Amino acid sequence: MKTIGVLTSGGDSPGMNAAVRAVVRFGVRNSLRIIGIQRGYCGLIDGAFKEMHFPDVAGIMERGGTILRTSRCGEFYTKEGRAKAAEQLKAAGIDGLVVIGGEGSFTGAKFLHEEHGIPIVGIPGTIDNDISQTDMCVGVDTCLNTVVDAIQNLKDTATSHERAFIVEVMGRSSGYIALCAALATGSEAAIVPEVPIDWDKLASRLLEERKRGKINCIIVVAEGAGGAFHVAKNLQDRIGYETRVTILGHIQRGGSPTAFDRILATRMGAEAVKALLEGKSCHMMALQFGKIVPVPMEQVLKEKKTLDMTLYQLAHLLS
Ligand code: F6P
Repeated sequence: MKTIGVLTSGGDSPGMNAAVRAVVRFGVRNSLRIIGIQRGYCGLIDGAFKEMHFPDVAGIMERGGTILRTSRCGEFYTKEGRAKAAEQLKAAGIDGLVVIGGEGSFTGAKFLHEEHGIPIVGIPGTIDNDISQTDMCVGVDTCLNTVVDAIQNLKDTATSHERAFIVEVMGRSSGYIALCAALATGSEAAIVPEVPIDWDKLASRLLEERKRGKINCIIVVAEGAGGAFHVAKNLQDRIGYETRVTILGHIQRGGSPTAFDRILATRMGAEAVKALLEGKSCHMMALQFGKIVPVPMEQVLKEKKTLDMTLYQLAHLLS
């Protein structure tokens, strides 16, 4: 292995730049050529390549987003698109690829490997924390801190006006952000795609709490659980008091990464290069019990990450 390509794909997440920096610098230190691929798989198909040297990644660790830019690339879902990408890799002499992204990006990477034999190592980068085998994905911690700050602000105004606030957070099919944000802010409920909601039961609990003197109320809902307006529609008439909706949206994906995300991304970036050098052919770097380990991509994609029901129960028990 002499030349490695690196790309970021799918939704960006804070810490992707720290991972790119580690791939470039760890690669250069190991006498490799590192090629930065722009705009994810779209740039791979177009041959948007640029060799990256040690100074090219100076000062990027603290920056949100991804300096390589990213895309959700429809063409890469096709066999023809992947064949074009493989030709580009061959023409540029790229022997292995580091893909920083989420489940969709890894599915594409696995196809590229199976159809064209290109060694691939993935780094889980998504705020959703919905990838199996790894305790944390790059960007999750920063996103949670952003969400917690926002909810803290909402709590102030919720208290002043004695209102209920329904806060929608990201999470297409996973309630991880909603659950952890509810847990970290002592919110009244987390509404997540993994657990069906009994609206009457939730409403009577909220009314009970109000009778006991609680004047604010925060409900955190994952977008994949129907979203905030769906919750408002179901709760407003049942609880009777004033309700407001806040959708946090893409602010959750931006911002300077936390120390946790910088360190996680740095460790995974270096270990991804090491894995390619050691001959791993289709793996993802995972955080398991504090260690960064390579896990076969097939296993990652076969299993679905489940929500920790102990945390779910704890969040509701303590609210
Ligand atoms: O990156 C994952 C994610 O943030 C999901 O939580 C969300 O549903 C989606 O991306 C939004 O994607 P886009 O940026 O394409 O609107």
